[in-house]
Amino acid sequence: MVSITSSRVESLASSGIQSIPKEYVRPEEELTSIGNVFEEEKKEGPQVPTIDIKDIASDDKEVRAKAIETLKKAAMEWGVMHLVNHGIPDELTTRVKNAGATFFELPIEEKEKYANDQASGKIQGYGSRLANNASGQLEWEDYFFHLAYPEDKRDLSVWPQTPSDYVPATSEYAKELRSLATKIMSALSLALGLEEDRLEKEVGGIEELLLQMKINYYPKCPQPELALGVEAHTDVSALTFILHNMVPGLQLFYEGKWVTAKCVPNSIIMHIGDTLTILSNGKYKSILHRGLVNKEKVRISWAVFCEPPKHSIILKPLPELVSESEPAEFPPRTFAQHIEYKLFRKTQELQAAPASKE
Ligand SMILES: [Fe+2]
Repeated sequence: MVSITSSRVESLASSGIQSIPKEYVRPEEELTSIGNVFEEEKKEGPQVPTIDIKDIASDDKEVRAKAIETLKKAAMEWGVMHLVNHGIPDELTTRVKNAGATFFELPIEEKEKYANDQASGKIQGYGSRLANNASGQLEWEDYFFHLAYPEDKRDLSVWPQTPSDYVPATSEYAKELRSLATKIMSALSLALGLEEDRLEKEVGGIEELLLQMKINYYPKCPQPELALGVEAHTDVSALTFILHNMVPGLQLFYEGKWVTAKCVPNSIIMHIGDTLTILSNGKYKSILHRGLVNKEKVRISWAVFCEPPKHSIILKPLPELVSESEPAEFPPRTFAQHIEYKLFRKTQELQAAPASKE
């Protein structure tokens, strides 16, 4: 029997293996596009936009309109951006990163005390991707996942207790991100000619929008050109906010090519997720992205997914954005149904694909 504890990528990485198990090797057709991330990062060409958002809530109407227009353009063209002047103190993001990194420095046995148990529905805690499809494909990462906001819905007993700053730093960061999410959704609403609080309401408002923290830990990989830290996907969230330890890895599929995001100091990467794509009837883009790994440096990222409640809200294109010339691009679905639909589609694709990598 394979024990869950032996499936940590970190223990595999530190075991001294020179070649990675076949479950981590990507299919042939994908391998051609995977390169050395440090080389990829240096390449010229289209790049994820850096968006200064200090003016998106300005009292000066003209200044605000201009800032909103810039954000709108990035959300429509790329659906991902480096936010600068986001208003969250660097001192706080540094604390969040130090706390998460310190937790991952603990011995694996210590971290296992927080292990999740996906089979029994305990999804919060320390974990690794389990092969859940016919191909048995795995990703080169371990993670820690927990709900971070609203405060009355979180369960502090599953959060890391070591280091002691983890809970206070992460709580404060989640609170800050929650207001940032409101600011962004207000601007994105106004940009589409909607009432300022429209998108916020559509995703559940202050009571129901959930902020889920996922710390992604990507150990050094002996054969990085054969693996992925995270396979290509679009986020299902409304918005995703990401911090990282300045090691490159994120790639975006833009105009038919994989573009490697450069590391921008003190920025927060923000993704538009499928939820806003659906509500905006495709105007805001949820971009396909993936994560590369490397031989030299551990990469850690802190993703906070802002998600609508699973069952209580039906997501569909807002009627104001649907017309005869722009018919609804998405059928009505709850968030849970949307996730299920994506899984179903992926399984179909896998079954349709030619024989396995062997
Ligand atoms: Fe993602």
